[in-house]
Amino acid sequence: MARRSPRAALGLPRRFSTSSKPVLLSLILLPSIIVTIFLHFRKISYFLRPIWDTPPLPFNRIPHYYAENISTDHLCFLHGWTLRSSPRRVFDAVIFSNEVDLLEVRYHELLPYIHKFLILESNVTFTGMPKPLSFVDNADRFKFATSKIMHGTFTGPADPGFYKVPFQIEGMHRSAVNSLLRDSGILPGDILIMADADEIPSRHTIRLLQWCDGIPPVMHLELRHYLYSFEFPVDYSSWRSSAHQFGPLTQYRHSRQSDIMLADAGWHCSFCFRSIKEFVFKMKAYSHADRVRSSSYLEHSRIQKVICQGDDLFDMLPEEFSFRELIWKMGSIPKSASAVNLPSYVIENADRFRFLLPGGCLR
Ligand SMILES: *[C@@H]1O[C@H](CO)[C@@H](O)[C@H](O)[C@H]1NC(C)=O
Ligand SMILES: *[C@@H]1O[C@H](CO)[C@@H](O)[C@H](O)[C@H]1NC(C)=O
Repeated sequence: MARRSPRAALGLPRRFSTSSKPVLLSLILLPSIIVTIFLHFRKISYFLRPIWDTPPLPFNRIPHYYAENISTDHLCFLHGWTLRSSPRRVFDAVIFSNEVDLLEVRYHELLPYIHKFLILESNVTFTGMPKPLSFVDNADRFKFATSKIMHGTFTGPADPGFYKVPFQIEGMHRSAVNSLLRDSGILPGDILIMADADEIPSRHTIRLLQWCDGIPPVMHLELRHYLYSFEFPVDYSSWRSSAHQFGPLTQYRHSRQSDIMLADAGWHCSFCFRSIKEFVFKMKAYSHADRVRSSSYLEHSRIQKVICQGDDLFDMLPEEFSFRELIWKMGSIPKSASAVNLPSYVIENADRFRFLLPGGCLR
């Protein structure tokens, strides 16, 4: 196709007639376009996600009913279920990295309703970095639940060649949880929660699972998603945690296992750490560690600024499957001033958990 200048396109006389001009222009323009694409490849490909990626199949969401001081009998009835004569036993199984504060919040939230807390931790991250056993190091903080906790350790080899594919290492952790489960005394019909430590179901959700007959054998738990603290609510996109009536085929997983999801069943607080040091560790450790593209990403002053502004730690665009959602979510997360409907332990100990509450972004 012949090149036409904008002026020519508008029917205006050409100002320049030198034929070397377009060649020169493309010599400068083309490389700079290529460099730009190279530098911003991730951003551009994320922006174009609605074109190259298909969204997961939508879930069939069970409406969730709850208000204070309503009888469990009535709550079961509203879901189309019936009250049992005795509660089911509930087992809570998590893979733990370094979310010590959130684990404490989790165990206090769930303690009265849980038969056993299974927790697996490793002396190596998914990316092969040696790591301290943070649960063991902080065991004092979990004395209140000791009798219910079953702790397992996954020991990864020191050989870095072993850690080429972080998602595979993550898979090995999950099978280690399966063997912990086999030793836990869990029986068919018991409830098993599969979640990461920072995916916290609410008490009343567990009560419902415990006391109602007729619940689906496997369902995902829809959690309110927060980033950095409860001051930054993102959306309701967290779906990976799940609740199972344990059976012979139950396998510990953190992926799609059912099309059914119970709405608004708790909280998922990502990167909700007390200190910047913990942010840096998590950024280097988690399955998407390749997103740390330069060491400046790990500077404490930068991280602090990002936290207080509700921006993205990795300078990434949101993962969305439609342009409408993507553009809606671009930019900083608006701050919330609500500390209503949060885990009780955070409110009871608001002074200790200031960093999780509105106005507490300074670490
Ligand atoms: C809770 O419900 C009971 C009866 O179901 C009622 O007697 C009591 O006053 C209620 N408490 C509150 C705080 O509303
Ligand atoms: C993890 O612990 C095991 C057993 O103590 C040890 O052999 C291994 O080298 C440790 N891994 C790392 C990465 O330190």
